[in-house]
Amino acid sequence: MATSRQPWWSGGVLYQAYPRSFADSNGDGIGDLAGLRGRLDYLNWLGVDGIWLNPTFPSPNHDWGYDVSDYLDVHPDLGTLDDLDALIAAAAERGIRILLDLVPAHTSDRHQWFAESRASRESPRRSWYIWREEAEGQESVFGGKAWTYDERTGQYYHHLFLPDQPDLNWLQPDVRDAFDEILRFWFDRGIAGFRIDVVHELVKDPPSRPNRAKIHDVLRRWRSLAAGYEPQRLFVGETWVMDLEELASFYGSNDELQLAFNFPFMFAGLDAAALADVVERTEAVLPHGALPVWALSNHDVVRFPTRMCDEDDAKVRAALLALLTLRGTSVLYYGDELGMRQVDIPAERARDVHDRDGARTPLPWGEVEWRNPWLPLGANVATVAEQRSDPRSVLSFCREAIALRHGRKDLVSGGYTPLASPTGVWAWRRGSGSVIALNLTGSKAILPLAGEVILSTNGRDDSSRLEPWEGVVVALT
Ligand code: GLC
Ligand code: CA
Repeated sequence: MATSRQPWWSGGVLYQAYPRSFADSNGDGIGDLAGLRGRLDYLNWLGVDGIWLNPTFPSPNHDWGYDVSDYLDVHPDLGTLDDLDALIAAAAERGIRILLDLVPAHTSDRHQWFAESRASRESPRRSWYIWREEAEGQESVFGGKAWTYDERTGQYYHHLFLPDQPDLNWLQPDVRDAFDEILRFWFDRGIAGFRIDVVHELVKDPPSRPNRAKIHDVLRRWRSLAAGYEPQRLFVGETWVMDLEELASFYGSNDELQLAFNFPFMFAGLDAAALADVVERTEAVLPHGALPVWALSNHDVVRFPTRMCDEDDAKVRAALLALLTLRGTSVLYYGDELGMRQVDIPAERARDVHDRDGARTPLPWGEVEWRNPWLPLGANVATVAEQRSDPRSVLSFCREAIALRHGRKDLVSGGYTPLASPTGVWAWRRGSGSVIALNLTGSKAILPLAGEVILSTNGRDDSSRLEPWEGVVVALT
């Protein structure tokens, strides 16, 4: 069957920028939208197709933006709506799309909706949140009970995360309408799509378990809303489920999320058998025509060079090569391109309720450095400036891998075919003419491939064997 023109994220690279830590334009120590705009040339040079920004909305920051107090504005620390418009426009000039992070499962307790909801049991907004006479036993994700007693009206409200993050009641049709308006507001401004926070738990049913069937209804509703927009808008979900069949269900019949984050891949470790297994099973369960999405790090987990690569750059390159040569969409968390490690945060500098600061530190630029950054500088790798001028750096390698991904049809859209290989080696073919082989062991491996090495993590060009931790892309002859 002839396939229509592929969307931009097919074979694309999405860059997750944590706005407070990407680039600071006014020297207050907090990254901001103008800072990001000023660095678009860097991201363009790197070769990314889209940028996902962690929440940019006004928020009291109890959970660093994931407690939204207004979905239609910009956090003053980050700038203004005008700054966001300017960012969208400047990115578009470079062919880069901007995605925001939608947090629909809960609001901040400072959101006007919650203020009205908690004011009285008769409030028209009462049913927008989940209120009960009795607390159920459920625990919240950050520890402690998922129910908090509100004295004013003598009932408990539900929150899967902090008490400052009351959960919205998605069984209430008005909540669905309100989010339709929010989506339209941003799509009309030129936002290319959304990462959807905690989408796998969006709709709760008494006594507050996720209601999957109803989550799928909401996702279909959003897709049909987005269908009115050209070009197609993207929904990529934080689907934190460990079962791949369940993960695949969030694609619906290609009428729900276009991309669902793959946490089993993120946590497989740098192990040939485990990675090959997750990728092969993912490819098998996704609906026909759907694209997988791959990431190694994000703002909630320990950075991948520390978590899975023992802070060894040979392993970091191998992991990046895998990330950037799989079918679908590859997501780089800011700093991944440098091989940035998790940063040790002294207790007195800790800001997060859940100990995630070490993965959220400022990007070390080098030539102009941060003044009084809000978190200690992530200075555990060579800076952007240093790595840019070093053709053998992780950054230079990452850029080459992205260029190859974009420039080679097999890597843009070719299928994934696993290849038999020695223990500890993960090898697969993309399309008909490209093979990727990674030696994920500390010993040499023999894997004769008839072709030319077009990229190697070691800068070698031998297609008959692999050095320890070497990865190659081979053009078959
Ligand atoms: C998601 C976010 C995380 C946040 C949580 C609550 O898991 O990625 O950072 O704390 O949702 O919104
Ligand atoms: Ca700033």
